[in-house]
Amino acid sequence: MKTMAIVLAAGQGKRMKSKLYKVLHEVCGKPMVGHVLDTVKSAACERVVVVVGHGAEKVQAYLGDAAEYVLQAEQLGTGHAVRQAEGLLGAEEGTTLVICGDTPLVRASTIEAMRELHQASGAAATVLTASFDNPTGYGRVIRGEGGKVERIVEQKDCSAAEAAVKEINTGTYLFDNRKLFEALAKVTNENAQGEYYLTDVIGLFRQAEEGIQAYCTEDLAEAIGVNDRVALAEAERFMRERLNREHLLGGVTLIDPASTYIEAGVRIGADTVIMPGSFIRGGTVIGEDCVIGPGADLSNSVIADGVTIKHSVVADSVVGEGCSVGPYANLRPGTKLGKACKIGDFVELKNAVLDDGSKVSHLSYVGDAKVGKDVNIGCGAITVNYDGFNKALTEIGDNAFIGSNVNLIAPVQVGDGAYVVAGSTVTQNVPAGDLAIARERQVNKSGYADKIRARAKAKKERSKES
Ligand code: UD1
Ligand code: CA
Repeated sequence: MKTMAIVLAAGQGKRMKSKLYKVLHEVCGKPMVGHVLDTVKSAACERVVVVVGHGAEKVQAYLGDAAEYVLQAEQLGTGHAVRQAEGLLGAEEGTTLVICGDTPLVRASTIEAMRELHQASGAAATVLTASFDNPTGYGRVIRGEGGKVERIVEQKDCSAAEAAVKEINTGTYLFDNRKLFEALAKVTNENAQGEYYLTDVIGLFRQAEEGIQAYCTEDLAEAIGVNDRVALAEAERFMRERLNREHLLGGVTLIDPASTYIEAGVRIGADTVIMPGSFIRGGTVIGEDCVIGPGADLSNSVIADGVTIKHSVVADSVVGEGCSVGPYANLRPGTKLGKACKIGDFVELKNAVLDDGSKVSHLSYVGDAKVGKDVNIGCGAITVNYDGFNKALTEIGDNAFIGSNVNLIAPVQVGDGAYVVAGSTVTQNVPAGDLAIARERQVNKSGYADKIRARAKAKKERSKES
């Protein structure tokens, strides 16, 4: 049977107190609605319709052609929102999943289990429910004779007895598509909030003696609907625990999962160890046998096997096999390290390509540079890549040696095997194999140190006397 999905994402989310539309708030680095779309896709929904309203362009721009869209110009309630999809899905036959854009933790496997129950029982609706010690804020699932679901009552419409019910509506449902739209046409807004509630469809099905199933999840995280920042922080924690657990089961060692922040979409190879206080973000891919952290902050980067990164920031960069980075290095966008490079403390790299075996061990800035194999860049050496107007390139050939505290004024080239003497300010190209000295010649004045000390002492005494 065909499965379709309607994702409700039109609300503003007033309680978030934010300029950002609610469903675009991130949980583990991915907007909530992105998590929901991933789930819906992996639960094999053939058509996905996202109901947009507040921030429609932003939501659409983020999701792109992953879904079809329908606009709910005015937010008159969840029932009204679903009805907007009638033009697109009304003629379909099959099962329709309705899910909220603010419930990022619902699992695809749960939807699949619900669908089995739904289709085997021939129900008109199957509701995903959960049992909360504190159900405040959620719709309550009211069961009647023989435990049959009768209706869902919103918090604001609850009697005292209904408010005491602990089973809540998670806001995820499966419906018989045709019956869903038939029932929605009968939903009114006569309730405490003056809204068209999707949940009223359940009561209407009950009256029509249609079958209703409840699928109760044990994993309470799945039921979190993010309405405010407290729930957002809670969702973040649950999602982090879930992602970390997947990495642990995949063979990654996390010394302290509670202080390891790995975003959705990150991939890590087996036998890699992640030390505490590390953030691994975006689409970062890490190979096997690496040691990352403590205190590493990696984003959108590719880290090969056997790499060590300590107390460092790496963004939009590529780090080759067996490299060692840090402590306290800053690899800015466009850095590309070959195999077995060594980047030491207080080194900043930007738009710099270093070939295999090259070393920048201490206190350097290498920006807009192309560096060959086995190059040694000494302590404090820098590329002077910017004259206040333009950026220029520095090229250094294989096996070159750049002494400590050298300034390479770009554009400039240092040839293969060349040797630049410490303290040089290089303004002209250095041919391959040459030695460049570009500094003032030293003058030693014999005995002069004692002379200036004596002079200083005499001056001090004169000032005391007067
Ligand atoms: C809803 C349910 C409640 C359930 C809870 C679970 C209803 C009436 N209530 O309540 O039973 O326990 O979710 O989290 O359905 N939206 C629209 N258009 C609208 C209104 C809402 O697209 O006109 C979207 C929102 O963007 C949001 C979702 O629907 O993603 C849920 O709306 P929200 O206002 O958060 O509903 P709750 O009060 O949480
Ligand atoms: Ca909600």
